[in-house]
Amino acid sequence: ATAGKVINCKAAIAWGPKQPLTIEDIEVAPPKAHEVRVKIVATGICRSDDHVLSGAISDMKFPAILGHEGAGIVESVGEGVKNLKPGDKVIPLFVPQCGECRCCTNSRSNLCDKHDIGPYIGLLLDRTSRFTCKGKPVYNFLSTSTFTEYTVLDEICVAKIDDNAPLEKVCLIGCGFSTGYGSAVNTAKVEPGSSCAVFGLGGVGLSVLIGCKVAGAAKIIGVDTNPDKFAKAKELGATDCINPNDYKEPIHEVLAKMSDGGLDYTFECIGNTKVMESALLATHFGCGTSVIVGLAPASARVSVDPMEMLTGRTLKGALFGGWKSRDDVPKLVADFMAKKFNLDGLITHRSTLDKINEGFDLLRKGDSIRTILQI
Ligand code: NAI
Ligand code: ZN
Repeated sequence: ATAGKVINCKAAIAWGPKQPLTIEDIEVAPPKAHEVRVKIVATGICRSDDHVLSGAISDMKFPAILGHEGAGIVESVGEGVKNLKPGDKVIPLFVPQCGECRCCTNSRSNLCDKHDIGPYIGLLLDRTSRFTCKGKPVYNFLSTSTFTEYTVLDEICVAKIDDNAPLEKVCLIGCGFSTGYGSAVNTAKVEPGSSCAVFGLGGVGLSVLIGCKVAGAAKIIGVDTNPDKFAKAKELGATDCINPNDYKEPIHEVLAKMSDGGLDYTFECIGNTKVMESALLATHFGCGTSVIVGLAPASARVSVDPMEMLTGRTLKGALFGGWKSRDDVPKLVADFMAKKFNLDGLITHRSTLDKINEGFDLLRKGDSIRTILQI
């Protein structure tokens, strides 16, 4: 009944950095060709959304609808959309998969030329927005925008998933879980019996830890300055947890002593360039691999002594855990349905869209792993 018409609904609008979101009445225009309008059912709050509000992501345009870790149901489709229909359960994808560009056709990459991950454009692929509020256009975020009752997505940013999937859980497959888990199993390719350290035990870091465990790592060390995170990390598979503030010596030296000279794999899941340097040094000088997962502020730089690499270390990074989004998200949902991994450990709070600012406060205070908003 709503197909082809403008939908009036609620959304959380970001007006600028350091300002609370406000719930507003917005208009969502119908999808154009190769676009899909989706009713969002649930969405997580990820630190990347907060990086926009803290100002760490500095080239965003406002007003905008943030949120990129959602799940929903297709309401209507634009002309030419063949693989999606109203009623389909879907996960919005912040890394598109057009299937045709250099990265999409390379098995070693999961990026896509059509991405909007900085410098941010904040619009759909045709360079317009379907959102208006108080008569003015509202920008998109990361091709997704999930803090709204309805959003419009380019079809290359949509994964169709199992009709029976619980959207209030699998929304985490849209970002945090897949990013962390894939960083371990795809990007690092953690091997059985290996030693790993995960810096930052938020939703992303804990998902790395789940991946390390599934991959059969023998030693998994969690590193966080907030010891409240340790109980959950141990529950999910950490063999040890350490707080850098408890030691006088640099943390990479402490970790080297705990791992016969250095770890096989380390992961930075914070977005702090100093920690990225420690995580690299904490790997074994002859065979260690360090993966950058955290999103650092735009102007930040990592400093590396070339000799530390020359001996055989590898430094790499990935967006969305290296998954080819449209191909792999339905498979990850199928793996979840087959109980290959559990998402309950990552969900600490459930709330509603009107309480979104409280959800952000819980994340900033370190009190939550993931808050899921029921939309
Ligand atoms: P979070 O804020 O929930 O977790 C970060 C954790 O790091 C917290 O537990 C905090 O106590 C800890 N921490 C902060 N400073 C520390 C320090 N100096 N040493 C040790 N621990 C420290 O964040 P979340 O949602 O888990 O995201 C983590 C990072 O990953 C963010 O930067 C986010 O933007 C980024 N990200 C990257 C993605 C990608 O595709 N590569 C996708 C999603 C998120
Ligand atoms: Zn995210």
